[in-house]
Amino acid sequence: MVDESNTRRIMVITGASRGIGAETARVAAARGDHVVINYREKAKRATVLAEAIEAEGGSASTVGADIADEAEAGRLIAAVVAEFGRLDVLVLNASGGLERGAEPDYAMAINRDAQLRLVRLALPHIPSGGRIVFVTSHQAHFHGRKPVPAEYEPIAASKRAGEDALRALRPELTERGIDLQVVSGDMIDGTIIVQLLRRRNPDAVAARTEHGALPTVTEFATAVVDAADAVSGLGHTTYVGGQDYLAGASTD
Ligand SMILES: NC(=O)c1ccc[n+]([C@@H]2O[C@H](COP(=O)([O-])OP(=O)(O)OC[C@H]3O[C@@H](n4cnc5c(N)ncnc54)[C@H](OP(=O)(O)O)[C@@H]3O)[C@@H](O)[C@H]2O)c1
Repeated sequence: MVDESNTRRIMVITGASRGIGAETARVAAARGDHVVINYREKAKRATVLAEAIEAEGGSASTVGADIADEAEAGRLIAAVVAEFGRLDVLVLNASGGLERGAEPDYAMAINRDAQLRLVRLALPHIPSGGRIVFVTSHQAHFHGRKPVPAEYEPIAASKRAGEDALRALRPELTERGIDLQVVSGDMIDGTIIVQLLRRRNPDAVAARTEHGALPTVTEFATAVVDAADAVSGLGHTTYVGGQDYLAGASTD
């Protein structure tokens, strides 16, 4: 565990045992933040990541919690507060709905309700100057304005609902001096989600790659960490890849 927690920012990243969350943890730790790697099931993977970060001179810890479970979400925030007394950056990266056997209402539960609840739990412990970064996809961000592959529709609708719920908090965030940033990515090369989609609906992935190479996990994770530093205004959206999505769309 760290002993410089008064000088390092405390960044909690949900769903950081693999993929974009894990890479976000690596990039943020390399820049000097203490990263709290939240995972749902893969404790070993999260521990190996934290050890790798520490071996590189960074600072990291792990907390297991299914953020879709109210009690576990509460325990995640309580564990961070018990250890550090605060959290400076909350990266809302964990997402779901494509899991095999997921209940039909799970997408809304994880992508909207759990995000809002976690923010509500965290807010009293985020000091003024802190920030929340919501990670989303173009297909979710532009839901209702651009077509979405059928498999992804419930995820897109629920992630957009989550983004809207967070944006509705802007007056309260302003009052508290806390920033909200949204980072939206095209399909990200090499991720499990894109591998799954490629298997279930190869045309949907091909339709994205015909516009150019997909962004890498490192490019997207770097944009997420940049958003945790940015001075671009409350509610700003950073777009990564997919220039065709942005052409002609009103980008908010
Ligand atoms: N992949 C893409 O192409 C893409 C594109 C644009 C935006 N994004 C966004 O980027 C984010 C990360 O995507 P990804 O592809 O890296 O995801 P991923 O590979 O599916 O990673 C999922 C991570 O979230 C954790 N997780 C899942 N459900 C959780 C829960 N209920 N509570 C806590 N942790 C949970 C998993 O932990 P365990 O392994 O321990 O279960 C794992 O660490 C998502 O918000 C996604 O919408 C992804």
